[in-house]
Amino acid sequence: MRPHPSVNALRRGLLALAASTALTPAAFAEGPIVIKFSHVVAIDTPKGKAAEYFAKRAGELTKGRVKVEVYLNSQLYKDKEEIEALQLGSVQMLAPSLSKFAHLGVKEFEAFDLPFIFNDYNDLHAVTSGPVGRKLLKKLESRGITGLAYWDNGFKVMSANKPLKKLEDYKGLRMRIQPSKVLDAQMRAVGALPQVLAFSETYQALQTRVVDGTENPPSNLYTQKMHEVQKHVSTTHHGYLGYAVVVNKKFWDGLPNSIRAALSQAMTESTQVANDIAFQDNLDALARIKASGKATVYQPTMEERQQLRRAMLPVHQQMATRIGMQTIEEIYQATGFKPLPTPLTP
Ligand code: LMR
Repeated sequence: MRPHPSVNALRRGLLALAASTALTPAAFAEGPIVIKFSHVVAIDTPKGKAAEYFAKRAGELTKGRVKVEVYLNSQLYKDKEEIEALQLGSVQMLAPSLSKFAHLGVKEFEAFDLPFIFNDYNDLHAVTSGPVGRKLLKKLESRGITGLAYWDNGFKVMSANKPLKKLEDYKGLRMRIQPSKVLDAQMRAVGALPQVLAFSETYQALQTRVVDGTENPPSNLYTQKMHEVQKHVSTTHHGYLGYAVVVNKKFWDGLPNSIRAALSQAMTESTQVANDIAFQDNLDALARIKASGKATVYQPTMEERQQLRRAMLPVHQQMATRIGMQTIEEIYQATGFKPLPTPLTP
């Protein structure tokens, strides 16, 4: 999808402005402090709703001193551009998926992409609310980014135009993935051909058969109408997709203390909102996909899911050097992960 020319002009303007604006407290003395919060998904998703909630609470808790402008659906920037824009200071806040941080050289974040590493949200929260989660956010600081929170989305389903039941069904399928080497290895492990595409380009690539299928939590699949161009969805829940909410460090550090405290409070509340609704939103989206009659929704049997798990688990070892074995071990420890078959519920 090509952005509207006026959006391009706005982007250029923002970049120029960022280069010329000093982010000192004095710069905040007049008028409201504007936080541009850019993201790539629809409003009706866990991230979309939490971003709106944050904007509302930030305004209330700072008594109008802060105005958060949310730019959704890749309106302003696509995946890769948005991180660059944050570093340049042309937007102040983002919530990219955890799969998109390796681009900054913080490859440890790809641990979240490891297939079957989390059985459920409890496992995930043991990491995101504990020392491992905090340590990973800290690593962003050297890149000029401050990590504020983790926001949940959910466990991924696979989709294609053919039924996805057995392992051999994935063979030779061109599958859109996010820019993560772990996801690349995961797709290759089942014989598929991974192709990295920006989220905003995925619907069209599926529609025009540039790729055959994809993976995402149901909330993303449904709100981007991908189920209208994919005949079959399989609830493999083979991996997790969620977010880190991040701000430009210079901007954040330059805020008056009272404003930063109020924004931190708004972030705590919004994180609660995101995480409270993520599970239900994904269930609802799956039900809506079923009800639409446009795609079938298949629940793999226990054996089919085990087949997938056996094929994908070697990716943990393959990627250990890239991610760092210590980070992987710390996640195993936090979740009680057992590499060998504890039967997983489908
Ligand atoms: C994707 O690219 O599939 C996701 O990261 C989009 C998102 O932000 O949820």
